[in-house]
Amino acid sequence: MAKTLARKIIEEHLVEGRCQPGEEIGLRIDQTLTQDATGTLAALEFEALGLERVRTEVSVSYVDHNILQSDFKNPDDHRFLRSIAARYGLWFSPPGNGICHQLHMLNFGRPGATLLGSDSHTPHGGGLGMLAMGAGGLDVAAAMAGQPFFLTYPKVLGVRLSGKLSPWVGAKDVILELLRRLSVKGGLGYVVEYHGPGVTGLSVLQRAAITNMGAELGATSSVFPSDEKTKAFLTAQGRADAWREMSADDGAVYDKLEEIDLAALEPLAACPSSPDAVRPVRELAEVAVEQVIVGSCGGGSYEDLMTIAMALKGKALAPGLNLSVNPGSRQALAQVTANGALLDMLEAGVRLHQAGCLGCIGMSQAPATGAASVRTFPRNFPGRSGTKDDRVYLTGPEVAAATALAGHLADPRQVFGPQEPIPPAPAVRPEALVAPPADGAGVAIVRGPNIAPFPQLPPLADDLVCTVALKVGDNITTDHIMPAGSKILPLRSNVPAISQFVFNAVDPDFPAKAQACAPAAVVGGDNYGQGSSREHAALAPRYLGVQVKLAKSFARIHKANLINFGVLPLVFADPADYDRLDEGQRIELRGVKRALLEGAENLTALVDGQPVELRLEASPRDRQILAAGGRLNHIKNAL
Ligand code: F3S
Repeated sequence: MAKTLARKIIEEHLVEGRCQPGEEIGLRIDQTLTQDATGTLAALEFEALGLERVRTEVSVSYVDHNILQSDFKNPDDHRFLRSIAARYGLWFSPPGNGICHQLHMLNFGRPGATLLGSDSHTPHGGGLGMLAMGAGGLDVAAAMAGQPFFLTYPKVLGVRLSGKLSPWVGAKDVILELLRRLSVKGGLGYVVEYHGPGVTGLSVLQRAAITNMGAELGATSSVFPSDEKTKAFLTAQGRADAWREMSADDGAVYDKLEEIDLAALEPLAACPSSPDAVRPVRELAEVAVEQVIVGSCGGGSYEDLMTIAMALKGKALAPGLNLSVNPGSRQALAQVTANGALLDMLEAGVRLHQAGCLGCIGMSQAPATGAASVRTFPRNFPGRSGTKDDRVYLTGPEVAAATALAGHLADPRQVFGPQEPIPPAPAVRPEALVAPPADGAGVAIVRGPNIAPFPQLPPLADDLVCTVALKVGDNITTDHIMPAGSKILPLRSNVPAISQFVFNAVDPDFPAKAQACAPAAVVGGDNYGQGSSREHAALAPRYLGVQVKLAKSFARIHKANLINFGVLPLVFADPADYDRLDEGQRIELRGVKRALLEGAENLTALVDGQPVELRLEASPRDRQILAAGGRLNHIKNAL
């Protein structure tokens, strides 16, 4: 049988289950990555398992999200992570080195490997032919301990690329086109697999920009074949040994197919405030822009920086416009320094920031009230920039450059002449990656006062009687549940402190309400918990006493996180029942623990005495985890 590339990688790593649609499978994980915002908790969780050393081929702890060091908390976390890495055998990437996804692909990724990362843009590695998936930190901690990663066997969405991108049309326009067609839910349950004659015309960095933003489609992962371009990329990184050729078999059948003629694409932008609100840039010329930022994991590569530098050379920014550049890696920054492009950018008026996440996660560079901001970032959920009423447009670097000169959203084909090819990257590799010692047994772990122990979570009760503490609508993001930003991020290693910010933007009294009525329930609409792998969005509400979430549907990673922390993710059998629930109502789930352990999919709750039918879609393993009160309890019980 002709196989897709995704299936080949899955079969090579399958340790439990069968490759049948809808079945739960367990995959051996070769590599893991954590970033600091999710990594401190993952480190505490790994530590709680009591092992001597990670059991993966390579695990890396990156510090990239939370690097402003405005008080002791950030550096304490960094020092803690550095000591954990040395103690347990992880590589460590200190702040200023760049963003985890770019660094991992440059320095560790290899075609055909599985990568699990505690960050939703981990599919970035798919540009290199890896099966790279985002997950909660607890799943990553378990993978570091050599446990399989469990997921539903995914369907494969084939995207057949033909033709060649026109000048001033880039990788971002490919993924924006898919988001326009399929929406932020279009990839749910799928691995997106790119193939066809158009693949060879895309560089590895372009491919990674595309797979990176597959996360916005809700896809499990996205993957490109590994070909001669991949080989050249790895060779330039001094890692030719890591290359192997990988692609789908001829005649491989996809569960769903999209075709994109690259030559037919035009510059696109995702409008405020969703990555799928995509429109052609030529229709948006009336949008006056005050701020442009080029950066992030999906938009700060060497090629992205070069696109800006070459387009701006010898030109001046629009009056009053601020153009920030936020390199994705120290290596990309060194490369544009070595070839002089950095000077071209600085002379044009670029404001340079350190390599890292920064503006993408609301860590500085918030736009002014009411101002439109154009960013090469992967997402533009409302308020994520740090400004409540933000208007963030997502584009490729080509549109960002044209906009920076015009002062309004501008089609680069109308602003610039012919586009010159980007010169090969200079051979500089200035990373400050820290290898672990051969034996970490004697390494002392250094904790600051902001690092609180992992909370004890009790097992599920047989009878649950909870109160609805909050009702929200559709497409609630993990940002709504557990906001990011410079005040909150440093508290991620301190669950009691961070839990006081849960749902603050929706209802500032939520933490007190949830604690007062615990066990509490939250009611949501469709696609509840979309947006990121942030496990605090499950753990912090659980800490406050939220035991049940009822929704019309859940985003995949968030649902997995809820189970991992012992929160029941229940779906309305009839979505219209959503309207019957309100804050303050009592929900009775009698005998729920027994029912879930017996495999019941249909549960009846009594809401103020009236029955409401609910569904629990969970594997037998997930049911045991829920009964144990979370995955850490479940793993510990088995040790
Ligand atoms: Fe960082 Fe933003 Fe990517 S927070 S990992 S640059 S999506």
